Amino acid sequence: MDARFPFTPYPRGWFQVAWSDELPTGGVLPLSCFGKELVLFRTEEGVAHVLDAYCPHLGAHLGHGGRVQQGLLQCPFHGWRFNGQGACMEIPHASKIPPGAVLGAWAVHELDGVLFVHHGLEGTRPEWQVPPLPEASAEGWGLAQKKLWRIRTHVQEISENIADSTHFRYVHSTLSLPELELSSEGHIFRADSKMLQPTPRGPVNGRIYTEAHGLGYWAIRFTGIADVTFISAATPVGPEHVVLRHTFFLRTPEQPGTSNNVGKALVAEIIRQVEEDIPIWENKIFRARPLLSAGDRSIPALRHWSRQFLEG
Ligand code: FES
Ligand SMILES: [Fe+2]
Repeated sequence: MDARFPFTPYPRGWFQVAWSDELPTGGVLPLSCFGKELVLFRTEEGVAHVLDAYCPHLGAHLGHGGRVQQGLLQCPFHGWRFNGQGACMEIPHASKIPPGAVLGAWAVHELDGVLFVHHGLEGTRPEWQVPPLPEASAEGWGLAQKKLWRIRTHVQEISENIADSTHFRYVHSTLSLPELELSSEGHIFRADSKMLQPTPRGPVNGRIYTEAHGLGYWAIRFTGIADVTFISAATPVGPEHVVLRHTFFLRTPEQPGTSNNVGKALVAEIIRQVEEDIPIWENKIFRARPLLSAGDRSIPALRHWSRQFLEG
């Protein structure tokens, strides 16, 4: 059978692997990402590291029972200890460390309550970083909600959703097709869309401004109905599976004691819209040469930009 997607399931770029609050000081978590088994741990100083999971000694998974001891990750099986760069620093009852006692180490970037790992070509360092999201630390804004889905699709399909203006009308019942303005610059892609959205108080002109840094990080800003900003982070975990995480930030109400019901309703609506997309993503195929009509001009633009992350 042909592969479902005509490119690698594991593009290059930064991808979310966890939220910061899932990893306390001294915490250890197993990760399955990019078709690999990895281990995520946080030292007593608070620094997060990601290493290949299987111990070079006899192959124990360091994410299942591994412990942080004096800044090192200790294997649960025979106690070998590794630093954040993957080097074995201590072997109990042995004075010499064999030269091959090294685990692959992954670049980690933690900001705005999110832990990202860089997936790149073997031996290459990241060429760019995910930028901080101003709303995550701005006065008058707060974390509103976090949401996670596991979806049988490719990160490319989730990215195309933003550039796919005509689906909003049919899948998400917006009252008009979005007016889309797209631009790209290196690893960054921007989409500015305006559309008429239904609300309980009648149609409202809404604007969605999106800025992607690679396929794994989309900062999406809704204005008009209410101010909601969220990070949409799709991470390839297996050959046909993606974990999609949304981290929502909302403007806090100016009057203390009141609640931002419109903002909360918009967050619920965005979650509902993702759940409308999921059955399409899970069951569709990827058409490398789609039949496009006049309303689809933005799909080739998005595909042209995303090629840089998908090709070897
Ligand atoms: S398998 Fe890790 S120390 Fe033996
Ligand atoms: Fe959608």
